[in-house]
Amino acid sequence: MILPIYAYGQPVLSKTGKVIESIDDDIKTLIDNMWETMYNASGIGIAAPQIGKSLRLFVIDTKQMEGEDKSFKDGIKQVFINAVMLEEWDEPYEYEEGCLSIPHIRGNVSRNAQIKIQYQDRDGALLTEVYSGLNARVIQHEYDHIEGKLFTEYLKPIKKRRIKRKLQAIKNGEVSINYRMRYV
Ligand code: NI
Repeated sequence: MILPIYAYGQPVLSKTGKVIESIDDDIKTLIDNMWETMYNASGIGIAAPQIGKSLRLFVIDTKQMEGEDKSFKDGIKQVFINAVMLEEWDEPYEYEEGCLSIPHIRGNVSRNAQIKIQYQDRDGALLTEVYSGLNARVIQHEYDHIEGKLFTEYLKPIKKRRIKRKLQAIKNGEVSINYRMRYV
């Protein structure tokens, strides 16, 4: 089932997600719905707060980017439950990010190139993995969502001023986008 995506300004986007105690059928259905919602909106990642659930859960599929960028071949499709960022290191670099909750706004964000993260998969198995490059980047963005943070908070002051009106327009529901959104 495709769910409405919560738009910039929704309080749930600034909350820290709660730990998922048991990966039951409800959570598995939620995960299925998140995949469907993400693909419907042509996203490469989506986090539970973006569909109105304050939980430590996100899904990403960077395999979709393999077609666009020929030099990128190690895309992943993965569910991250109860993720804990253990380490971030390596030379920070800027990359232009966007977000399904903030349509039509993009901006350069500086992040470390490598991460080590612990999480549970759909079957509850506890994994610790190292990711780099584009995979790390998308995970960092989604991880921020479960920490109640949005990429716009990292933008330089001049860029923040430049997008202020656009952000207010999103809050007001004045957005033209081809997927369903839920505004404040
Ligand atoms: Ni996002």
